[in-house]
Amino acid sequence: MSMLITGIKELVTGDPEVEGAITDPLHAGLGVLRDAAIVIGGGGEDSAPTVQWVGHAAAAPAADWAIDLEGRSVVPGFVDSHSHLVFAGDRSAEFAARMSGTPYDGGGIATTVEATRSASDPELRTLLQHRVQEMRAQGTTTVEVKSGYGLTVEDEVRALRLAREVTTEVTYLGAHVVPPDRRDAAGRAAYLDLVCGEMLEACAPHARWIDVFCEPASPHAFDGEESRRVLEAGRAAGLELRVHGNQLSEGPGVQLAVELGAASVDHCTFLSDADVEALAGSGTVATLLPGVEFSTRQPYPDARRLIGAGAQVAIATDCNPGTCYSSSMPLMIALAVREMGMTPAEALRAATAGGAAALRRTDVGRIAVGLRADFALVDAPSWLHIPYRVGVPVVRALEV
Ligand code: NIG
Ligand code: FE
Repeated sequence: MSMLITGIKELVTGDPEVEGAITDPLHAGLGVLRDAAIVIGGGGEDSAPTVQWVGHAAAAPAADWAIDLEGRSVVPGFVDSHSHLVFAGDRSAEFAARMSGTPYDGGGIATTVEATRSASDPELRTLLQHRVQEMRAQGTTTVEVKSGYGLTVEDEVRALRLAREVTTEVTYLGAHVVPPDRRDAAGRAAYLDLVCGEMLEACAPHARWIDVFCEPASPHAFDGEESRRVLEAGRAAGLELRVHGNQLSEGPGVQLAVELGAASVDHCTFLSDADVEALAGSGTVATLLPGVEFSTRQPYPDARRLIGAGAQVAIATDCNPGTCYSSSMPLMIALAVREMGMTPAEALRAATAGGAAALRRTDVGRIAVGLRADFALVDAPSWLHIPYRVGVPVVRALEV
């Protein structure tokens, strides 16, 4: 069975080479078709439908079924490549304190660890499913989910098993912080042994990625050498690498991520010239999380400096109870445009193809023949309404 989706005022394919794309600089790199149509087909019990044809509506082939979007727009489903969705409780009081001047240092993570350990499997599953639904309702169709609020072998495995129920992009983050009861030197060393030993062994079968909160400026997180050990152990266990780096200071995270060939280094808020240069010459994506700066009152990352140097940039939500309790990719796009000086086209690419690159995925983040039918519907005559109509729910995942 095939289905024709027609009446698309603007179709962002994400493929700059697509025939008939608008060529002005406003749409650079997006492969935008006006008055477009898509044919999808295939799919069944265990496979998603795929794109069979993309082009101008006037040239569309016949199909078994047709739906008319009546002048709305379509973009690739957002790829949110960084989130911490498996948690219980919230930290609204910490947020209020921060808005009155208390700086963020990662110490509040312990509060979420306690609440998460105390929650039952069904409670955590329900919370996670609601958050994924919240994301879909705002146009996100691919999401990465980290553990990191368990910090025992059992609780980390549980988080990863639950994450696996909602996505294939599952990340082991036992090295989120050192648990509060292990903060003395011996306890810290023993925890690192656990993260790189027994915990890794138990978690690796349930995850694709390993991540570490590399931040010498936080007493709760890990320094460069500790982070290297975590990442190398993860790689030896068959996991691919991603890094939380340079969130609170010009730390070693970016250099380490590039040296070890991580898919992405996330935050990149405080960068030296050498960091920018290293990213530009690498296959490591710089993932910017502007909701974090918005919610912690930090300076935003310098996206223009990264793009100017030639680094590949993604944007993601980092949805978590501490630094950014927002699941909204449209908000991140709006912040990237208004606060980080990205053009709307750069921001949309960073939220789609950029996120796909940060997850080393070639099957999402674009709309092209042979790829999964994975779209977001914009209830407006132009994709530009995503950043333009900030705070208004104009975009949602298109269920096909
Ligand atoms: O990406 N910085 C480390 N981890 C999260 C915050 C987690 C939390 O505060 O609960 C982040 O910002
Ligand atoms: Fe994070």
